[in-house]
Amino acid sequence: MVVTKKETILVVGGAGYIGSHVCKAIHENGGRPIVFDNLSTGHRHAVRWGDLMEGDIRDADALDKAFQTYKPTVVIHLASCIEVGEGEVNPEKFYDVNVIGSLSLLNSMRRNKINQIIFSSTCATYGDTQNLPLRETEPQVPVSVYGQTKHFVENLLRSYAKAYGLQYAILRYFNASGADADGNIGEEHNPETHLIPNALKAAAKIGGTMKLFGDDYDTPDGTCVRDYIHVTDLADAHLLSKEALKKGIETLEVNVGTGIGISVLELLNTIKYVTGHEVPYDIAPKRSGDVAKLYADVSKAEEILGFKAKHSSIENIIRTAWNFHQYKS
Ligand code: UFG
Repeated sequence: MVVTKKETILVVGGAGYIGSHVCKAIHENGGRPIVFDNLSTGHRHAVRWGDLMEGDIRDADALDKAFQTYKPTVVIHLASCIEVGEGEVNPEKFYDVNVIGSLSLLNSMRRNKINQIIFSSTCATYGDTQNLPLRETEPQVPVSVYGQTKHFVENLLRSYAKAYGLQYAILRYFNASGADADGNIGEEHNPETHLIPNALKAAAKIGGTMKLFGDDYDTPDGTCVRDYIHVTDLADAHLLSKEALKKGIETLEVNVGTGIGISVLELLNTIKYVTGHEVPYDIAPKRSGDVAKLYADVSKAEEILGFKAKHSSIENIIRTAWNFHQYKS
């Protein structure tokens, strides 16, 4: 679709859940993904479409070596700590990896004269808002350490663009979910905190009942509403952004979601419908940092990138995730 023949792209954090799907998309479109990853949370077995260079983004020499060895034209930066709860109790780690690591990456890019970056950001940079669907113009007031570190990096990108002419695309992901249609790569976090893998595990009768965090939110059924976007669609958004930078767009900041809000209970019902298995759950207290509703206004991504989520029906998300985990119906 949009990658020039054998264009080399450095995918930082490419051994992770979203990164591995991005690598597959690059490969399928004729490009050459090179993964730079310290494998702290990513998996060697998820690197299937190009070389792996093991290294840490805070290690300037390792980054310089990657740039000099592979000479990529663009960087896709997905390496970060993502578990919101961990950030609250270990901010040192989050600022070190997410902020200092990103600064180190940007500086290595400057030294090696690479001027285009696509950055994985999050709707968590907006904080708790009532203005839904969420537009990019919404003030960014992140409430979690995780969201704050991502916001910090967004500001770094803006400053580097202004001062040094860096071209960037910031993609604010909503809830990444699902798995590749071939069933080879998918969500493998440890510990797993996300709703869909936890619910599927409970449906498969592994590890007991699921905890449903809060049923008295101000939403139609009392449970939290989120915008679940299939990881294959997210991967496509990276390729489209890369193409936009290549066409000369200097800076781009967009939401990547579906625009559709789904509650936890709706999701559990769909799991029963798709897999034939009930999800056993217990109502648990609200999880700290959760907001009632988050879903995207996707018009900017549609307009500027021509982006449209094609794989993100909630049934397809559940089917592909279930298939990846190989739970039997
Ligand atoms: N939930 C449960 N039980 C679980 C897991 C989750 O009830 O075992 C609920 C949560 O309370 C929330 C919803 O399911 O209401 C979705 O939770 P996830 O953990 O799957 O996703 P979040 O919306 O909390 O987090 C996602 C990304 C983060 C990002 C955030 C932005 O995973 O990286 O969106 O809001 F920061």
